[in-house]
Amino acid sequence: MKTRKLLTLSAAALLAAAPLTVLATAAEADPVAGLAPVADSDFHDDGRPDQAKVRLGRFLFFDKVLSGNRNIACATCHHPTLAAADGVSLSLGEGARGLGTERREDPGTPLLGRVPRNAPALHFLGAREFIALTHDGRVEVDPARTWPSGFWTPAREQLPEGLDNALAAQALFPVLSNIEMAGHKGENAVADAVALNRLGGQDGAWAILARRLQKIPEYVDLFVEAFPEVDQSEDITIVQAANAIAAFQTTAFRPDDSPFDRYLRSRDPAVLSPAARRGMALFYGDAGCAACHSGKFQTDHRFHAIAMPQIGPGKSDGWDRSYWRATGYAARVEDFGRYRVTFRPEDRYRFRTPSLRNVELTGPWGHAGSYASLEAVVRHHLDPVAALERYDAREGALPRLQRVIEPRATGSRLSHEAVNPARLADYLRRDTWAQETGALRRELAEANELPPRSLSDAQVEDLLAFLRALTDPRSRDLSALVPRRVPSGLPVAD
Ligand code: HEC
Ligand code: HEC
Repeated sequence: MKTRKLLTLSAAALLAAAPLTVLATAAEADPVAGLAPVADSDFHDDGRPDQAKVRLGRFLFFDKVLSGNRNIACATCHHPTLAAADGVSLSLGEGARGLGTERREDPGTPLLGRVPRNAPALHFLGAREFIALTHDGRVEVDPARTWPSGFWTPAREQLPEGLDNALAAQALFPVLSNIEMAGHKGENAVADAVALNRLGGQDGAWAILARRLQKIPEYVDLFVEAFPEVDQSEDITIVQAANAIAAFQTTAFRPDDSPFDRYLRSRDPAVLSPAARRGMALFYGDAGCAACHSGKFQTDHRFHAIAMPQIGPGKSDGWDRSYWRATGYAARVEDFGRYRVTFRPEDRYRFRTPSLRNVELTGPWGHAGSYASLEAVVRHHLDPVAALERYDAREGALPRLQRVIEPRATGSRLSHEAVNPARLADYLRRDTWAQETGALRRELAEANELPPRSLSDAQVEDLLAFLRALTDPRSRDLSALVPRRVPSGLPVAD
Protein backbone atom coordinates (compact mmCIF):
# COMPACT_ATOMS: atom_id res chain seq x y z
CA MET A 1 0.00 0.00 0.00
CA LYS A 2 2.68 2.31 1.12
CA THR A 3 4.93 1.57 -1.85
CA ARG A 4 2.10 2.14 -4.21
CA LYS A 5 1.39 5.52 -2.75
CA LEU A 6 5.01 6.46 -3.13
CA LEU A 7 4.98 5.39 -6.76
CA THR A 8 1.92 7.43 -7.50
CA LEU A 9 3.49 10.37 -5.86
CA SER A 10 6.67 10.18 -7.81
CA ALA A 11 4.73 9.67 -11.03
CA ALA A 12 2.85 12.86 -10.28
CA ALA A 13 6.09 14.65 -9.55
CA LEU A 14 7.49 13.41 -12.86
CA LEU A 15 4.39 14.55 -14.71
CA ALA A 16 4.60 18.00 -13.17
CA ALA A 17 8.21 18.26 -14.24
CA ALA A 18 7.50 16.80 -17.66
CA PRO A 19 7.74 19.87 -19.93
CA LEU A 20 11.10 20.77 -18.45
CA THR A 21 12.42 17.23 -18.69
CA VAL A 22 11.40 16.92 -22.34
CA LEU A 23 13.11 20.18 -23.18
CA ALA A 24 16.21 19.16 -21.33
CA THR A 25 16.49 15.75 -23.03
CA ALA A 26 15.75 17.27 -26.43
CA ALA A 27 18.61 19.70 -25.95
CA GLU A 28 20.94 17.02 -24.63
CA ALA A 29 19.95 14.64 -27.36
CA ASP A 30 20.65 17.00 -30.24
CA PRO A 31 23.14 14.74 -32.03
CA VAL A 32 24.53 17.59 -34.08
CA ALA A 33 24.67 20.22 -31.34
CA GLY A 34 28.23 21.13 -32.35
CA LEU A 35 27.41 21.70 -36.03
CA ALA A 36 26.76 25.21 -37.32
CA PRO A 37 24.37 25.65 -40.25
CA VAL A 38 25.84 26.08 -43.72
CA ALA A 39 26.79 29.74 -44.17
CA ASP A 40 28.26 31.92 -46.91
CA SER A 41 31.51 32.05 -44.99
CA ASP A 42 31.97 28.29 -45.51
CA PHE A 43 32.64 28.90 -49.19
CA HIS A 44 35.38 30.39 -51.32
CA ASP A 45 34.77 34.09 -51.94
CA ASP A 46 32.42 33.99 -48.96
CA GLY A 47 29.91 32.22 -51.18
CA ARG A 48 29.49 35.24 -53.43
CA PRO A 49 31.95 34.92 -56.28
CA ASP A 50 31.92 37.64 -58.87
CA GLN A 51 28.81 37.25 -61.05
CA ALA A 52 30.70 37.86 -64.28
CA LYS A 53 32.97 34.93 -63.42
CA VAL A 54 29.97 32.74 -62.64
CA ARG A 55 28.31 33.66 -65.96
CA LEU A 56 31.45 32.79 -67.90
CA GLY A 57 32.01 29.60 -65.89
CA ARG A 58 28.50 28.42 -66.65
CA PHE A 59 29.09 28.66 -70.39
CA LEU A 60 32.43 26.89 -70.13
CA PHE A 61 30.91 24.10 -68.06
CA PHE A 62 28.42 23.33 -70.84
CA ASP A 63 30.65 24.06 -73.81
CA LYS A 64 32.16 21.17 -75.75
CA VAL A 65 34.86 23.51 -77.02
CA LEU A 66 37.01 22.44 -74.06
CA SER A 67 37.20 18.86 -75.34
CA GLY A 68 39.82 17.82 -77.88
CA ASN A 69 37.29 16.61 -80.44
CA ARG A 70 34.64 19.18 -79.42
CA ASN A 71 32.19 16.45 -78.53
CA ILE A 72 31.80 16.45 -74.73
CA ALA A 73 31.54 18.99 -71.91
CA CYS A 74 31.86 18.91 -68.14
CA ALA A 75 28.07 18.87 -67.93
CA THR A 76 27.86 15.61 -69.86
CA CYS A 77 29.10 13.74 -66.77
CA HIS A 78 27.95 16.26 -64.14
CA HIS A 79 24.54 17.25 -65.42
CA PRO A 80 22.11 19.52 -63.58
CA THR A 81 19.19 17.24 -64.46
CA LEU A 82 21.07 14.28 -62.94
CA ALA A 83 21.98 15.94 -59.65
CA ALA A 84 25.37 17.09 -60.98
CA ALA A 85 26.39 13.51 -61.78
CA ASP A 86 25.36 11.25 -64.66
CA GLY A 87 23.23 8.51 -63.18
CA VAL A 88 25.38 5.63 -64.43
CA SER A 89 28.00 3.47 -62.73
CA LEU A 90 30.83 4.36 -65.10
CA SER A 91 30.60 7.13 -67.67
CA LEU A 92 31.16 6.77 -71.38
CA GLY A 93 33.48 9.62 -72.19
CA GLU A 94 34.37 11.47 -75.37
CA GLY A 95 33.11 9.88 -78.56
CA ALA A 96 29.85 8.59 -77.08
CA ARG A 97 26.45 10.25 -77.49
CA GLY A 98 23.51 11.10 -75.27
CA LEU A 99 23.08 11.72 -71.59
CA GLY A 100 22.88 9.57 -68.47
CA THR A 101 21.47 6.09 -68.87
CA GLU A 102 20.67 6.92 -72.50
CA ARG A 103 24.33 7.55 -73.32
CA ARG A 104 25.63 5.07 -75.89
CA GLU A 105 28.45 4.50 -78.29
CA ASP A 106 28.30 6.47 -81.49
CA PRO A 107 28.35 3.80 -84.22
CA GLY A 108 30.95 5.77 -86.19
CA THR A 109 33.34 6.41 -83.29
CA PRO A 110 35.08 3.62 -81.44
CA LEU A 111 35.63 4.37 -77.73
CA LEU A 112 38.79 4.18 -75.69
CA GLY A 113 36.86 2.05 -73.24
CA ARG A 114 34.92 3.24 -70.23
CA VAL A 115 35.85 5.71 -67.52
CA PRO A 116 37.12 3.55 -64.63
CA ARG A 117 35.44 5.45 -61.77
CA ASN A 118 32.01 6.77 -60.96
CA ALA A 119 31.48 10.45 -61.78
CA PRO A 120 30.84 12.12 -58.41
CA ALA A 121 28.17 14.76 -57.91
CA LEU A 122 29.59 18.23 -57.36
CA HIS A 123 27.56 19.42 -54.38
CA PHE A 124 29.22 21.80 -51.92
CA LEU A 125 32.67 21.33 -53.45
CA GLY A 126 33.03 25.11 -53.35
CA ALA A 127 33.19 24.91 -49.55
CA ARG A 128 36.67 25.66 -48.28
CA GLU A 129 36.92 22.41 -46.34
CA PHE A 130 37.03 20.35 -49.57
CA ILE A 131 40.78 20.48 -50.08
CA ALA A 132 41.27 17.05 -51.71
CA LEU A 133 39.25 16.22 -54.79
CA THR A 134 38.48 13.00 -56.71
CA HIS A 135 38.03 9.57 -55.18
CA ASP A 136 41.74 9.30 -54.36
CA GLY A 137 42.34 12.97 -53.57
CA ARG A 138 44.94 13.40 -56.28
CA VAL A 139 44.05 17.07 -56.72
CA GLU A 140 44.94 18.49 -53.37
CA VAL A 141 45.89 21.74 -51.68
CA ASP A 142 49.57 21.40 -50.75
CA PRO A 143 50.44 23.53 -47.72
CA ALA A 144 54.14 22.70 -48.26
CA ARG A 145 53.90 24.32 -51.70
CA THR A 146 56.12 21.68 -53.28
CA TRP A 147 55.28 23.16 -56.69
CA PRO A 148 54.73 26.84 -57.46
CA SER A 149 51.01 26.25 -58.05
CA GLY A 150 50.41 25.35 -54.39
CA PHE A 151 48.58 22.14 -55.37
CA TRP A 152 49.68 18.54 -55.40
CA THR A 153 48.32 17.08 -58.64
CA PRO A 154 49.30 14.59 -61.36
CA ALA A 155 50.64 17.55 -63.41
CA ARG A 156 53.18 18.30 -60.66
CA GLU A 157 55.41 21.24 -61.65
CA GLN A 158 53.49 21.84 -64.86
CA LEU A 159 50.35 23.06 -63.11
CA PRO A 160 50.17 26.83 -63.60
CA GLU A 161 50.06 29.35 -60.79
CA GLY A 162 47.06 31.55 -60.03
CA LEU A 163 44.39 28.89 -59.48
CA ASP A 164 41.89 30.14 -56.90
CA ASN A 165 41.25 26.85 -55.09
CA ALA A 166 41.20 23.05 -55.38
CA LEU A 167 38.00 23.13 -57.42
CA ALA A 168 39.69 25.35 -59.99
CA ALA A 169 42.78 23.13 -60.08
CA GLN A 170 40.57 20.09 -60.62
CA ALA A 171 38.89 21.64 -63.67
CA LEU A 172 42.21 21.45 -65.54
CA PHE A 173 42.33 17.64 -65.49
CA PRO A 174 39.28 16.21 -67.30
CA VAL A 175 40.40 18.15 -70.39
CA LEU A 176 43.69 16.21 -70.39
CA SER A 177 42.13 12.79 -69.98
CA ASN A 178 42.09 10.88 -73.26
CA ILE A 179 39.02 8.97 -72.32
CA GLU A 180 37.06 11.80 -70.69
CA MET A 181 37.59 14.86 -72.88
CA ALA A 182 40.88 14.96 -74.82
CA GLY A 183 40.41 12.15 -77.33
CA HIS A 184 43.41 10.21 -78.49
CA LYS A 185 46.68 10.94 -80.15
CA GLY A 186 46.40 11.77 -83.81
CA GLU A 187 42.86 13.13 -83.49
CA ASN A 188 43.54 16.68 -82.32
CA ALA A 189 46.26 19.02 -81.08
CA VAL A 190 45.22 18.75 -77.43
CA ALA A 191 45.52 14.96 -77.40
CA ASP A 192 48.84 15.16 -79.26
CA ALA A 193 50.26 17.54 -76.65
CA VAL A 194 49.01 15.29 -73.85
CA ALA A 195 50.71 12.29 -75.49
CA LEU A 196 54.02 14.18 -75.25
CA ASN A 197 53.27 15.20 -71.65
CA ARG A 198 53.22 18.82 -72.78
CA LEU A 199 50.63 20.25 -70.44
CA GLY A 200 51.84 23.71 -69.39
CA GLY A 201 53.78 26.23 -71.45
CA GLN A 202 53.04 27.82 -74.83
CA ASP A 203 52.78 24.56 -76.77
CA GLY A 204 51.05 22.68 -73.97
CA ALA A 205 47.52 21.26 -73.99
CA TRP A 206 46.15 24.02 -71.75
CA ALA A 207 47.49 26.82 -73.94
CA ILE A 208 45.98 25.14 -77.01
CA LEU A 209 42.58 25.19 -75.32
CA ALA A 210 43.01 28.81 -74.20
CA ARG A 211 43.76 29.78 -77.82
CA ARG A 212 40.50 28.17 -78.88
CA LEU A 213 38.67 30.45 -76.47
CA GLN A 214 40.64 33.50 -77.62
CA LYS A 215 39.24 33.02 -81.12
CA ILE A 216 35.60 33.23 -80.05
CA PRO A 217 34.56 36.91 -79.80
CA GLU A 218 31.76 36.27 -77.32
CA TYR A 219 34.19 34.56 -74.96
CA VAL A 220 36.62 37.46 -75.29
CA ASP A 221 33.85 39.82 -74.09
CA LEU A 222 32.97 37.49 -71.22
CA PHE A 223 36.61 37.19 -70.09
CA VAL A 224 37.07 40.97 -70.32
CA GLU A 225 34.04 41.43 -68.06
CA ALA A 226 35.17 38.76 -65.59
CA PHE A 227 38.88 39.53 -65.26
CA PRO A 228 40.46 42.97 -64.85
CA GLU A 229 43.73 41.65 -66.29
CA VAL A 230 42.07 40.78 -69.62
CA ASP A 231 41.95 43.61 -72.16
CA GLN A 232 42.24 41.65 -75.36
CA SER A 233 41.91 38.10 -76.59
CA GLU A 234 45.60 37.19 -76.08
CA ASP A 235 45.25 37.86 -72.34
CA ILE A 236 42.89 34.91 -71.91
CA THR A 237 44.43 31.96 -70.03
CA ILE A 238 43.28 28.51 -69.02
CA VAL A 239 43.76 29.52 -65.37
CA GLN A 240 41.04 32.15 -65.71
CA ALA A 241 38.79 29.60 -67.38
CA ALA A 242 39.34 27.17 -64.49
CA ASN A 243 38.70 29.87 -61.89
CA ALA A 244 35.45 30.77 -63.64
CA ILE A 245 34.30 27.15 -63.83
CA ALA A 246 35.01 26.81 -60.10
CA ALA A 247 33.02 29.96 -59.33
CA PHE A 248 30.09 28.55 -61.30
CA GLN A 249 30.20 25.20 -59.49
CA THR A 250 30.40 26.92 -56.11
CA THR A 251 27.14 28.79 -56.59
CA ALA A 252 25.28 26.33 -58.83
CA PHE A 253 25.74 23.25 -56.66
CA ARG A 254 25.07 24.54 -53.18
CA PRO A 255 22.04 22.54 -52.00
CA ASP A 256 21.65 24.00 -48.52
CA ASP A 257 17.90 23.83 -48.15
CA SER A 258 17.44 20.19 -47.21
CA PRO A 259 15.36 19.28 -44.16
CA PHE A 260 18.71 18.69 -42.40
CA ASP A 261 19.78 22.26 -43.23
CA ARG A 262 16.48 23.57 -41.95
CA TYR A 263 17.08 21.65 -38.76
CA LEU A 264 20.60 23.07 -38.39
CA ARG A 265 19.20 26.56 -38.80
CA SER A 266 16.12 26.29 -36.60
CA ARG A 267 16.90 23.37 -34.23
CA ASP A 268 13.20 22.66 -34.58
CA PRO A 269 12.83 18.86 -34.48
CA ALA A 270 9.53 19.15 -36.35
CA VAL A 271 11.31 19.92 -39.63
CA LEU A 272 12.54 16.31 -39.65
CA SER A 273 10.28 13.25 -39.71
CA PRO A 274 10.49 11.10 -36.58
CA ALA A 275 12.30 8.42 -38.62
CA ALA A 276 14.85 10.95 -39.92
CA ARG A 277 15.38 12.21 -36.36
CA ARG A 278 16.04 8.69 -35.13
CA GLY A 279 18.29 8.14 -38.14
CA MET A 280 20.24 11.33 -37.42
CA ALA A 281 20.80 10.21 -33.82
CA LEU A 282 22.03 6.84 -35.06
CA PHE A 283 24.19 8.35 -37.79
CA TYR A 284 25.97 10.76 -35.48
CA GLY A 285 25.75 8.31 -32.58
CA ASP A 286 25.57 4.55 -32.13
CA ALA A 287 25.76 3.53 -35.79
CA GLY A 288 29.21 5.10 -35.95
CA CYS A 289 28.74 6.64 -39.39
CA ALA A 290 30.12 9.99 -38.27
CA ALA A 291 33.48 8.40 -37.42
CA CYS A 292 34.14 9.00 -41.12
CA HIS A 293 31.11 10.88 -42.44
CA SER A 294 31.61 13.69 -39.95
CA GLY A 295 30.57 17.30 -39.96
CA LYS A 296 27.79 19.09 -41.76
CA PHE A 297 28.80 17.66 -45.14
CA GLN A 298 29.23 14.14 -43.73
CA THR A 299 32.88 13.75 -44.61
CA ASP A 300 36.19 13.79 -42.75
CA HIS A 301 37.93 14.39 -46.11
CA ARG A 302 40.09 11.39 -45.34
CA PHE A 303 40.60 8.01 -46.98
CA HIS A 304 39.34 4.66 -45.76
CA ALA A 305 39.26 1.12 -47.07
CA ILE A 306 35.78 -0.32 -46.73
CA ALA A 307 35.98 -3.21 -49.21
CA MET A 308 33.77 -1.47 -51.74
CA PRO A 309 33.39 -3.80 -54.74
CA GLN A 310 35.07 -2.74 -57.96
CA ILE A 311 33.49 -3.07 -61.36
CA GLY A 312 34.91 -1.75 -64.62
CA PRO A 313 38.43 -1.80 -65.99
CA GLY A 314 40.20 -0.39 -62.91
CA LYS A 315 43.10 2.04 -62.94
CA SER A 316 45.78 -0.32 -64.30
CA ASP A 317 47.11 -0.98 -60.80
CA GLY A 318 48.43 -4.13 -59.20
CA TRP A 319 50.68 -6.97 -60.19
CA ASP A 320 48.11 -9.62 -60.84
CA ARG A 321 48.55 -11.26 -64.22
CA SER A 322 45.56 -13.55 -64.20
CA TYR A 323 43.56 -11.42 -66.63
CA TRP A 324 46.55 -11.21 -68.93
CA ARG A 325 47.07 -14.96 -68.81
CA ALA A 326 43.42 -15.68 -69.47
CA THR A 327 42.88 -13.24 -72.33
CA GLY A 328 46.24 -12.20 -73.76
CA TYR A 329 45.47 -8.55 -72.98
CA ALA A 330 48.37 -7.02 -71.06
CA ALA A 331 46.02 -5.03 -68.85
CA ARG A 332 45.99 -4.70 -65.07
CA VAL A 333 42.54 -4.36 -63.61
CA GLU A 334 42.82 -3.10 -60.05
CA ASP A 335 42.21 0.34 -58.55
CA PHE A 336 44.50 1.03 -55.58
CA GLY A 337 42.74 4.26 -54.55
CA ARG A 338 44.74 6.58 -52.30
CA TYR A 339 47.89 4.47 -52.76
CA ARG A 340 48.14 5.88 -56.28
CA VAL A 341 48.89 9.26 -54.71
CA THR A 342 50.96 8.40 -51.64
CA PHE A 343 52.53 5.01 -52.51
CA ARG A 344 52.07 4.04 -48.89
CA PRO A 345 51.06 0.37 -48.62
CA GLU A 346 48.50 1.17 -45.92
CA ASP A 347 46.68 3.44 -48.38
CA ARG A 348 45.93 0.63 -50.79
CA TYR A 349 42.17 0.40 -51.54
CA ARG A 350 41.45 3.50 -49.50
CA PHE A 351 39.03 5.96 -51.06
CA ARG A 352 37.90 9.37 -49.90
CA THR A 353 34.89 9.51 -47.63
CA PRO A 354 32.26 11.04 -49.89
CA SER A 355 29.93 13.79 -48.74
CA LEU A 356 26.43 12.40 -48.37
CA ARG A 357 24.59 15.58 -49.31
CA ASN A 358 21.87 14.75 -51.87
CA VAL A 359 23.08 11.15 -51.73
CA GLU A 360 19.57 9.89 -52.47
CA LEU A 361 19.87 11.48 -55.93
CA THR A 362 23.46 10.60 -56.80
CA GLY A 363 23.43 6.85 -57.44
CA PRO A 364 24.82 4.45 -58.47
CA TRP A 365 27.02 4.52 -55.36
CA GLY A 366 30.61 3.70 -54.50
CA HIS A 367 33.77 4.79 -56.32
CA ALA A 368 33.00 2.48 -59.20
CA GLY A 369 29.23 2.85 -59.00
CA SER A 370 28.88 -0.79 -58.04
CA TYR A 371 25.69 -0.40 -55.97
CA ALA A 372 22.48 0.58 -57.68
CA SER A 373 20.46 0.96 -54.48
CA LEU A 374 21.06 3.28 -51.55
CA GLU A 375 19.93 0.63 -49.10
CA ALA A 376 22.47 -1.83 -50.54
CA VAL A 377 25.40 0.56 -50.15
CA VAL A 378 24.35 1.38 -46.58
CA ARG A 379 24.03 -2.35 -45.79
CA HIS A 380 27.45 -2.90 -47.31
CA HIS A 381 28.83 -0.92 -44.36
CA LEU A 382 27.26 -3.32 -41.84
CA ASP A 383 29.56 -6.14 -42.92
CA PRO A 384 31.84 -4.95 -45.72
CA VAL A 385 33.73 -8.21 -46.24
CA ALA A 386 30.62 -10.38 -46.34
CA ALA A 387 28.97 -7.88 -48.71
CA LEU A 388 32.02 -7.93 -50.97
CA GLU A 389 31.92 -11.73 -51.11
CA ARG A 390 28.21 -11.70 -51.90
CA TYR A 391 28.43 -8.95 -54.51
CA ASP A 392 27.64 -10.10 -58.04
CA ALA A 393 29.68 -8.02 -60.50
CA ARG A 394 26.87 -8.28 -63.05
CA GLU A 395 24.71 -6.11 -60.75
CA GLY A 396 26.70 -3.14 -61.99
CA ALA A 397 24.96 -3.55 -65.37
CA LEU A 398 27.55 -1.81 -67.50
CA PRO A 399 26.32 -1.20 -71.02
CA ARG A 400 28.02 -3.54 -73.48
CA LEU A 401 30.58 -1.84 -75.68
CA GLN A 402 30.68 -2.79 -79.36
CA ARG A 403 33.70 -0.97 -80.74
CA VAL A 404 36.73 -0.23 -78.63
CA ILE A 405 40.18 1.03 -79.42
CA GLU A 406 43.18 0.14 -77.34
CA PRO A 407 46.54 1.79 -76.98
CA ARG A 408 49.40 -0.22 -78.49
CA ALA A 409 53.07 0.38 -77.97
CA THR A 410 55.39 -0.71 -80.75
CA GLY A 411 58.89 0.04 -79.56
CA SER A 412 58.61 3.60 -78.32
CA ARG A 413 55.71 4.45 -80.62
CA LEU A 414 52.25 4.65 -79.16
CA SER A 415 49.32 4.02 -81.44
CA HIS A 416 45.64 3.26 -81.05
CA GLU A 417 44.03 0.37 -82.81
CA ALA A 418 40.56 -1.06 -82.94
CA VAL A 419 40.01 -4.13 -80.82
CA ASN A 420 39.43 -7.12 -83.06
CA PRO A 421 35.71 -7.90 -82.81
CA ALA A 422 36.52 -11.56 -82.29
CA ARG A 423 38.48 -10.55 -79.17
CA LEU A 424 35.90 -8.11 -77.81
CA ALA A 425 34.39 -10.56 -75.34
CA ASP A 426 37.82 -11.15 -73.77
CA TYR A 427 38.45 -7.41 -73.70
CA LEU A 428 35.20 -6.84 -71.80
CA ARG A 429 35.96 -9.51 -69.20
CA ARG A 430 38.09 -6.85 -67.48
CA ASP A 431 34.86 -5.20 -66.30
CA THR A 432 34.14 -7.99 -63.85
CA TRP A 433 37.61 -9.48 -63.42
CA ALA A 434 38.63 -7.77 -60.17
CA GLN A 435 35.44 -8.82 -58.42
CA GLU A 436 35.36 -12.34 -59.82
CA THR A 437 38.96 -13.18 -58.97
CA GLY A 438 39.23 -14.65 -55.49
CA ALA A 439 42.81 -13.48 -54.91
CA LEU A 440 41.96 -9.87 -55.77
CA ARG A 441 38.81 -9.90 -53.64
CA ARG A 442 40.87 -11.23 -50.76
CA GLU A 443 43.27 -8.29 -50.96
CA LEU A 444 40.38 -5.86 -50.85
CA ALA A 445 38.90 -7.75 -47.90
CA GLU A 446 42.20 -7.75 -46.01
CA ALA A 447 42.55 -4.00 -46.41
CA ASN A 448 39.09 -3.38 -44.94
CA GLU A 449 39.09 -1.10 -41.91
CA LEU A 450 35.39 -1.05 -41.11
CA PRO A 451 34.39 -3.68 -38.52
CA PRO A 452 30.98 -5.36 -38.86
CA ARG A 453 28.15 -3.79 -36.92
CA SER A 454 24.69 -5.14 -36.37
CA LEU A 455 21.74 -2.87 -36.89
CA SER A 456 18.09 -3.91 -37.00
CA ASP A 457 16.04 -3.48 -40.17
CA ALA A 458 14.20 -0.66 -38.43
CA GLN A 459 17.46 1.10 -37.70
CA VAL A 460 18.56 0.78 -41.32
CA GLU A 461 15.21 2.27 -42.33
CA ASP A 462 15.82 5.18 -39.97
CA LEU A 463 19.31 5.76 -41.37
CA LEU A 464 17.85 5.82 -44.88
CA ALA A 465 15.21 8.31 -43.74
CA PHE A 466 18.01 10.53 -42.43
CA LEU A 467 19.98 10.19 -45.69
CA ARG A 468 16.85 11.26 -47.59
CA ALA A 469 16.60 14.28 -45.29
CA LEU A 470 19.93 15.38 -46.78
CA THR A 471 18.20 16.01 -50.11
CA ASP A 472 17.60 19.60 -51.08
CA PRO A 473 14.34 19.41 -53.07
CA ARG A 474 15.67 22.05 -55.46
CA SER A 475 18.39 19.61 -56.57
CA ARG A 476 15.80 17.27 -58.07
CA ASP A 477 15.65 19.55 -61.05
CA LEU A 478 18.40 22.03 -61.71
CA SER A 479 17.57 22.30 -65.41
CA ALA A 480 17.37 26.09 -65.10
CA LEU A 481 21.17 26.03 -65.03
CA VAL A 482 21.38 24.65 -68.57
CA PRO A 483 22.04 27.46 -71.05
CA ARG A 484 20.13 27.40 -74.34
CA ARG A 485 23.28 28.08 -76.32
CA VAL A 486 27.01 28.42 -75.72
CA PRO A 487 29.46 30.94 -77.25
CA SER A 488 31.28 28.38 -79.44
CA GLY A 489 27.99 27.68 -81.22
CA LEU A 490 28.50 23.94 -80.62
CA PRO A 491 25.43 22.02 -79.47
CA VAL A 492 24.94 22.45 -75.70
CA ALA A 493 26.11 19.39 -73.75
CA ASP A 494 23.55 16.63 -74.26
C1 HEC B 1 33.54 11.61 -69.06
C2 HEC B 1 32.95 12.08 -67.85
C3 HEC B 1 33.48 13.33 -67.19
C4 HEC B 1 33.66 14.58 -67.73
C5 HEC B 1 33.44 15.00 -69.15
C6 HEC B 1 34.08 15.43 -66.65
N1 HEC B 1 34.14 14.72 -65.49
FE1 HEC B 1 34.48 15.44 -63.66
N2 HEC B 1 34.66 13.58 -62.94
C7 HEC B 1 34.41 12.44 -63.65
C8 HEC B 1 34.87 11.29 -62.89
C9 HEC B 1 34.78 9.83 -63.31
C10 HEC B 1 35.44 11.80 -61.71
C11 HEC B 1 36.11 11.00 -60.60
C12 HEC B 1 37.58 10.89 -60.95
C13 HEC B 1 38.39 10.06 -60.01
O1 HEC B 1 38.08 9.97 -58.83
O2 HEC B 1 39.39 9.49 -60.44
C14 HEC B 1 35.27 13.24 -61.77
C15 HEC B 1 35.63 14.12 -60.74
C16 HEC B 1 35.35 15.47 -60.77
C17 HEC B 1 35.49 16.36 -59.64
C18 HEC B 1 35.90 15.97 -58.24
C19 HEC B 1 34.67 15.63 -57.46
C20 HEC B 1 34.94 15.23 -56.05
O3 HEC B 1 33.99 14.92 -55.34
O4 HEC B 1 36.10 15.20 -55.64
C21 HEC B 1 35.14 17.61 -60.07
C22 HEC B 1 35.10 18.88 -59.26
C23 HEC B 1 34.83 17.50 -61.49
N3 HEC B 1 34.95 16.19 -61.87
C24 HEC B 1 34.53 18.56 -62.30
C25 HEC B 1 34.57 18.46 -63.70
C26 HEC B 1 34.72 19.59 -64.60
C27 HEC B 1 34.82 21.03 -64.17
C28 HEC B 1 34.72 19.09 -65.86
C29 HEC B 1 34.94 19.82 -67.16
C30 HEC B 1 36.17 20.58 -67.27
C31 HEC B 1 34.53 17.64 -65.73
N4 HEC B 1 34.48 17.31 -64.41
C32 HEC B 1 34.39 16.77 -66.79
C33 HEC B 1 33.81 12.38 -64.89
C34 HEC B 1 33.81 13.42 -65.78
C1 HEC C 1 35.42 3.79 -41.80
C2 HEC C 1 34.84 4.99 -42.37
C3 HEC C 1 33.35 4.94 -42.70
C4 HEC C 1 32.29 4.70 -41.84
C5 HEC C 1 32.32 4.42 -40.35
C6 HEC C 1 31.10 4.79 -42.67
N1 HEC C 1 31.43 5.08 -43.97
FE1 HEC C 1 30.16 5.34 -45.51
N2 HEC C 1 31.71 5.46 -46.77
C7 HEC C 1 33.03 5.51 -46.41
C8 HEC C 1 33.86 5.54 -47.59
C9 HEC C 1 35.38 5.60 -47.61
C10 HEC C 1 32.98 5.51 -48.68
C11 HEC C 1 33.39 5.48 -50.16
C12 HEC C 1 33.97 4.13 -50.43
C13 HEC C 1 34.25 3.84 -51.88
O1 HEC C 1 33.62 4.41 -52.76
O2 HEC C 1 35.12 3.00 -52.10
C14 HEC C 1 31.64 5.48 -48.13
C15 HEC C 1 30.47 5.50 -48.88
C16 HEC C 1 29.20 5.64 -48.36
C17 HEC C 1 28.00 5.81 -49.14
C18 HEC C 1 27.94 5.91 -50.66
C19 HEC C 1 28.14 7.34 -51.05
C20 HEC C 1 28.38 7.57 -52.51
O3 HEC C 1 28.23 8.73 -52.95
O4 HEC C 1 28.73 6.65 -53.25
C21 HEC C 1 26.96 5.90 -48.27
C22 HEC C 1 25.49 6.09 -48.61
C23 HEC C 1 27.50 5.76 -46.95
N3 HEC C 1 28.88 5.62 -47.05
C24 HEC C 1 26.75 5.78 -45.79
C25 HEC C 1 27.27 5.42 -44.55
C26 HEC C 1 26.46 5.17 -43.38
C27 HEC C 1 24.94 5.28 -43.32
C28 HEC C 1 27.31 4.81 -42.37
C29 HEC C 1 26.97 4.36 -40.98
C30 HEC C 1 26.20 3.13 -40.92
C31 HEC C 1 28.66 4.87 -42.91
N4 HEC C 1 28.59 5.23 -44.23
C32 HEC C 1 29.81 4.62 -42.18
C33 HEC C 1 33.53 5.49 -45.14
C34 HEC C 1 32.79 5.18 -44.01
